[in-house]
Amino acid sequence: MLDMSMLQQIGWVEASIAVVVAAILLIAIVTLSGGRPSDAPPMYTVGNLPFIGTFLEFAKNPVALVAQGYEKHGSCYSMNIFGQNMTFLLGPIAHDRFFSEDDRFLSQSEVYKFMTPVFGKGIVYDAPPKMMSSQMAFIKGALKGDALHRYVPIIVKEAEDYFEKHWKDGEIVDLHESMAELIILTASSCLMGTEVRETLFDKVASIFKRLDDGITPLSFFWPTAPIPAHWDRDAARADMGKIFSELVQKRRADPTSSKKYHDVLQVFVDSKYKDGSSTTEEQVCGLMVALLFAGQHTSSITTTWLTLLLSRNPASFAAVRKEVDAAWDSLAAEGGSELDFARVDALEELNRCFLETLRLYPPLVMLMRKVMGKPLKVGKYNVPVGDIVVASPQVSHRLPEGPDQVFTKPDTFDPDRFKEGREEHKGRPSGLGETGKSVKNFIGFGGGHHSCRGEQFARVQAKAVLSVMLRDWEIEPVGPMPKPNFAAIVVGPDVGTPIRVRRRARK
Ligand code: HEM
Repeated sequence: MLDMSMLQQIGWVEASIAVVVAAILLIAIVTLSGGRPSDAPPMYTVGNLPFIGTFLEFAKNPVALVAQGYEKHGSCYSMNIFGQNMTFLLGPIAHDRFFSEDDRFLSQSEVYKFMTPVFGKGIVYDAPPKMMSSQMAFIKGALKGDALHRYVPIIVKEAEDYFEKHWKDGEIVDLHESMAELIILTASSCLMGTEVRETLFDKVASIFKRLDDGITPLSFFWPTAPIPAHWDRDAARADMGKIFSELVQKRRADPTSSKKYHDVLQVFVDSKYKDGSSTTEEQVCGLMVALLFAGQHTSSITTTWLTLLLSRNPASFAAVRKEVDAAWDSLAAEGGSELDFARVDALEELNRCFLETLRLYPPLVMLMRKVMGKPLKVGKYNVPVGDIVVASPQVSHRLPEGPDQVFTKPDTFDPDRFKEGREEHKGRPSGLGETGKSVKNFIGFGGGHHSCRGEQFARVQAKAVLSVMLRDWEIEPVGPMPKPNFAAIVVGPDVGTPIRVRRRARK
């Protein structure tokens, strides 16, 4: 759900702590380590200082370092970063192992449990495995089928109101800022419900920000370290708990609420575990927080890159605009005014651009699990227990020509690679992973047991927002295309994202 690339996001205070801890770890490693088994993947080291040298390079630009490691050792190799052995599984054949093994042997909770102070005790990564999978099922159920149909008109209305209120003809706006504001509005309407959207929105948005600021690089190693950011995070979590407890109590006291409310909050209020017990108020709050963390930055960043890429690729822009205009025209011809799920879902050109955006700029650049119980067999190697294994959408989607490449000219924006007839995401290298199942080439939404539960929601959300934007606005790029900021937890543009917006006069 989260990208753990915070390892590289080191501020000065944390950097000092990191160097001291690294020195202690280095001594411990050198003293205690009996070396790796001979069938472990090869170790990639850089710089003159073993362990610390690699860590410093990783902190600078993890994606570049991981890609260099691929050039030297191929699709499976290890690095020691900050005393932790990390094994990279790059390209479809290698990362197939990552996505096909279950939680007993590749643990997600072990690497993401530092989020417990944010999500809450007993929520997702802190819950026993059966409870965690029930909670994930509640999330999945809330974000598909009929629910999605209901959410589309709500998202469209939020987008129309937002652009009307905040964008002025001829002005330069910061696209990423706009998308972040709009996405949290749509999330509050669809997920958190009318009470939050209408009366508590500012409060919830500011608590979310405090929680977000409370995740520092140090939190990954020491989530309860006594630092101001953690104290404020804990206070913010308690504030969020109070808000949602009251909401849940009110809804549970109202016998008509299940019929009255159609948001994700109500789904969580009504959800029951297999033993028949209901979710607690604390769990409902934790699940809402988890959803916000999973969906807010990922969606706002992807919608930003998508718009930036369209504004710089006239042919794709023209094709998407034609398709979007046709959808609105067909709606008008039927006398309708609300763009519906079916029309948004059918926007194929836009869908391909969305996928191509995620292929080039996945916001979660490295996904992690810990090897538990028995070594993980990957080709001729056995990845030792205790290693963290990493699948990287960012690196795997852009592998150079060679045995693991699936996307041709990988640095080029080419949405048609997903078109029938080409479908690079379904193709090479062999079509089969080691497990004998089809390999997954495109991993922007992850894969296997823990693939994104919000994929469909994220897709229709981005497409609905773009449908409104392209109907009403001309967008013109300002300045050079930003680069990804790989020092961020969820990777977005490294600088501001100005675009000039002009009201569109439709012919
Ligand atoms: C473009 C937007 C999004 C992208 C690129 C994205 C990407 C991902 C990825 C790569 C994972 C797998 C993480 C891993 O394997 O460690 C994931 C998991 C998850 N995502 Fe998303 N996501 C997006 C939007 C959303 C939204 C909007 C929601 C919900 C509102 C959501 C809910 C989840 C959940 C609950 C999981 C955890 C699944 C599990 O661990 O079983 N995501 N997402």
